Amino acid sequence: MKVLFIADIVGQPGRQAVKELIPKLRRQHGINLVVANGENSAGGSGITVNTAQEIFSSGVDIMTSGDHLWDQKEVVDLLANERRFVRPLNYPPGTPGQGSTIFQAENQPPVAVINLQGRTFMPPLDNPFHCVLAEIERLRKTTKLIFVDFHAEATSEKVALARMLDGRVSAVIGTHTHVQTADEQIFPGGTAFLCDAGFTGPHESVIGREIEPIIKRFMTNQPQKFEVARGRVLLQGALLEIDDASGKALKIQRISEPALPNPT
Ligand SMILES: [Fe+2]
Ligand SMILES: [Fe+2]
Repeated sequence: MKVLFIADIVGQPGRQAVKELIPKLRRQHGINLVVANGENSAGGSGITVNTAQEIFSSGVDIMTSGDHLWDQKEVVDLLANERRFVRPLNYPPGTPGQGSTIFQAENQPPVAVINLQGRTFMPPLDNPFHCVLAEIERLRKTTKLIFVDFHAEATSEKVALARMLDGRVSAVIGTHTHVQTADEQIFPGGTAFLCDAGFTGPHESVIGREIEPIIKRFMTNQPQKFEVARGRVLLQGALLEIDDASGKALKIQRISEPALPNPT
């Protein structure tokens, strides 16, 4: 099973890169499943029904999210109705939506996708370490192929959770910082890991937004409008190969693919 994971899609430039590059990547690598984090896909903040539809029709099979989940109020429709959309599992009981889903394509083994959110330097949610163990136990009755998007700020929290899950899931890939790390590896138990997959969008920016207003904010502490930037669009993420029988990772490769320049 070959899985393409696409890191946080930021705004229209990110969506455009996904549309342009997924067909090429699918052909090049024989990909069976595309998972993408879409928490910043609507104007850089949150996700709407329309942006989700656009991303799914570009070839994304399952979409995850994160702390920007509630930025667009339309997200409640997605949470209620879209089985391909996953929010962090460790929101409190009663939160709409689902923390995991199972992807099932013809002639392929089922793959579970879990979304989790960290708690270090982030809003307090339920303990992801406890939540994920119970969820994995439940999902492993259906499949050993389990992919985790751990949306978290602190590298230590991401490494610790992935180490805890070594041998129990196929991969733990971090998102949220928008800065791709260079630590891709397969742990001894067979779990692939990358601390942060980066982001898909304009890299001539501060993590996807225009540079000047962010500098001004840091200089003055005054609120600024943070528009999505435009230049040097990259699709970032990771390619994974997973053994169908054991669910163990065979290969992980980080990717950073340039998209065509935006027409100005
Ligand atoms: Fe985030
Ligand atoms: Fe993000």
